[in-house]
Amino acid sequence: MISGTTRDATKLLVIGRFFLFLLAAEMAFPNPTVRHFRWNVESIFWSPDCIENSVMAINGKFPGPTIRAKAGDTVVVRLTNKLNTEGVVIHWHGIGQRGTPWMDGTASISQCPINPGETFIYTFVVDKPGTYFYHGHYGMQRSAGLYGSLIVEAAAAEPFQYDVEFNILMSDWWHRSVHEQEIGLSSVPFRWINEPDSLLINGRGQYNCSLAAGTCKFEGAEQCAPYILTVHPNKTYRLRLASTTALASLNVAVENHKMVVVEADGNYVEPFEVDDLYIYSGESYSVLIKTDQDPTKNYWISAGVIGRKPNTTQALTLLNYVSVHAGHLPGSPPPAVPRWDDYVRMKSFAQKLRSISRNSAALSPPPARPHRRIALLNTQNLFLGQIKWAINNISLSLPPTPYLGSIRYKLRAAFDPSPPPESFPDGYDITVPAANRNCTVGNGVYMLGFNTTVDVVLQNANALAANTSEVHPWHLHGHNFWVVGYGDGRFVEGLSEKGFNVKDPPVRNTAVVFPYGWTAVRFVADNPGAWAFHCHLEPHLHMGMGVVLAEGVDRLRQIPAGALRCGLMGDMSANRTVGG
Ligand code: C2O
Ligand code: CU
Repeated sequence: MISGTTRDATKLLVIGRFFLFLLAAEMAFPNPTVRHFRWNVESIFWSPDCIENSVMAINGKFPGPTIRAKAGDTVVVRLTNKLNTEGVVIHWHGIGQRGTPWMDGTASISQCPINPGETFIYTFVVDKPGTYFYHGHYGMQRSAGLYGSLIVEAAAAEPFQYDVEFNILMSDWWHRSVHEQEIGLSSVPFRWINEPDSLLINGRGQYNCSLAAGTCKFEGAEQCAPYILTVHPNKTYRLRLASTTALASLNVAVENHKMVVVEADGNYVEPFEVDDLYIYSGESYSVLIKTDQDPTKNYWISAGVIGRKPNTTQALTLLNYVSVHAGHLPGSPPPAVPRWDDYVRMKSFAQKLRSISRNSAALSPPPARPHRRIALLNTQNLFLGQIKWAINNISLSLPPTPYLGSIRYKLRAAFDPSPPPESFPDGYDITVPAANRNCTVGNGVYMLGFNTTVDVVLQNANALAANTSEVHPWHLHGHNFWVVGYGDGRFVEGLSEKGFNVKDPPVRNTAVVFPYGWTAVRFVADNPGAWAFHCHLEPHLHMGMGVVLAEGVDRLRQIPAGALRCGLMGDMSANRTVGG
């Protein structure tokens, strides 16, 4: 495909371009730093909820190490796959990867899986301050525990102040192995993964015991002992909350303490005060709390499942005022989790989010009109007896050759060249199971005009069972979008968009679609690359709930060979360790 000499020449060009890119970053951010990490991914024994399991760990730790950087820094992660028999990739959730789409860490989309024994060097700039995380993006490796926090500190003043911060990564955990979960989801008859065995706060949870009733034993159990937040009175704390759950949607509360929401997915929001916060998989928030309560007590921090009928113990830990013993439990019961199916309450929380307007420079309203509007109907269907999730009746099945390379080098056999449908039939009744229960599987791409404004309307519907419609948090790679509207029932083209908020909609990378409703997002296709857009629930993505978008790929001069050496491009390079 590309001869050795041109390859080397273009490689130099890519490197040159990357340095130009760093130079540009340097002008925007004073004193950027290059932060180096060496990571080994391996499976180890670990006890996240005091029950021993095999867990995918990084450098022998679960969750993986926290990356801390400053906006403008370059992060270099030299990742070695020490798994015995499976490939691995790591996605940097919320990082834009502008100019480095091959560093997005999505198997089949931005790169080939890194084979056992091989090393891949992820190099990318973190240009936007915020609360992020990283996770495996191959099969269901995120469910296996392959994740950690990624915090980008602001290089300039932020629109709020605080004294100290804590980092809280929420996840859910199953004792059944991820491989068994994957097999069950693809089996006929279908075997559902069921509700999580436990919820984890920074990788630590309780199973079959109650922290509140004092029935959990943590002696000698360092891996599952709760992560306690010790605080001083009369200070402001920033809690950085992120959810990398595989399935659970959560409601989080800090007993007796109001939370002021100031950041969502790395974007400042108009501050608002709440008693509890809804967080869906793929989302992150910063909230400020004041430690202004009786300092002779400790207080519960809780997270409970909502959006599905829960069957998992509420996650608990303590806000520990420093003069009180950390083992001293609050006398009061933990905050009650709101009713799991109170969607009115969930929607009212979602509606509170607004882009910050105090500093008008930070407020960037979306273009008033899109060039194109794509409607994506979310349904549950059957394919050869398997249960699938389908988008406009196509369930995503990823190809062996990563899209980024196959689009750039025009490998027409690598994926379905016909464009996937832009809409669904007018007569489709979203309130009942699909009349045609069957779907197809496919891997076509939505090709977007470079720099065009695109609306996507995510339309929820009834699942296979009557009177069932689920929550789906959709996450877009490579972009932030404006969440311009939510609605109940079916989106009506020509009417529903009249109610869009184009003045101060929140900017995010994840937006939830409520049962029997729709969510509309708007974004500018200005980031050359191939990008996943999918439901962030791990079993749903595994069952095909996603699409692939691409824009401006022809503007990429050359893609590092290390990201491409598989599928139809397997013979491109002999170099075993190539990064940006
Ligand atoms: Cu955090 Cu494609 O996901
Ligand atoms: Cu989903």
